[in-house]
Amino acid sequence: MWKANIITAYPEMFPGVLGHSIIGKALNENIWSLDTISLHDFGYNDRNSIDDSPFGGGPGMVIRPDVVERAVMSVIDNKESKIPLVYMTPSGKALKQEDLVNFSQKKGILLLCGRFEGIDTRVIENLGFEQISIGDYVLTGGEVAAQVLVEGCVRLLPEVLGHSKSVLEESFSDNLLEYPQYTRPKVWVDKNGKENHVPDILISGHHEKIKKWRKNKSVEVTKKFRPDLLKGSKKVKI
Ligand code: ADE
Repeated sequence: MWKANIITAYPEMFPGVLGHSIIGKALNENIWSLDTISLHDFGYNDRNSIDDSPFGGGPGMVIRPDVVERAVMSVIDNKESKIPLVYMTPSGKALKQEDLVNFSQKKGILLLCGRFEGIDTRVIENLGFEQISIGDYVLTGGEVAAQVLVEGCVRLLPEVLGHSKSVLEESFSDNLLEYPQYTRPKVWVDKNGKENHVPDILISGHHEKIKKWRKNKSVEVTKKFRPDLLKGSKKVKI
């Protein structure tokens, strides 16, 4: 069973969003499992402190390497199969869909959530952590980022989403954003009395034409919002 091991100063933040909807249902059905490890259980004094002031000065506190090492070893000691060790930090490599695919194919993952000014870099290097960011913005800690990563992995597990075709067709699997979707009513009269129509082609029942229209729309949306994706795309053919 795929297992997420989360090391955090705030274990009460979990399962958070991971306890709801499809991901939460899969958790209850033991399709995946979650173990939350509190850094304070591995603190360095009788108050179980985990941090200290940064060498060189500056604001805030830094999580100590000895505390992190003890917490990590409590998870990976005695395990035959290696799992990826990932430190969630805004200074890391940008998380991509292909990373989620890779992680979801392993036995599980260990995620280390930073807080304060960060974690002493020696333990990150020493234990061989990958450093991953979920975007170019700074959160107050890695917990939300860890939930993003875990949610992205769990939905890729074969038993989680019934129709795997929807996973294959979705955004990013071919470097294109998704085409727009429509549902009933066919004509939606909005609050200003304006009629908003569903594109005729989608009601035509002509599957080949619909496929082509959707592909065109995907390219159009990608050009508009994420032209950078098209540069790396090998599969854009209409
Ligand atoms: N911790 C704080 N900000 C983060 C980000 N953008 N990605 C991952 N972890 C973080």
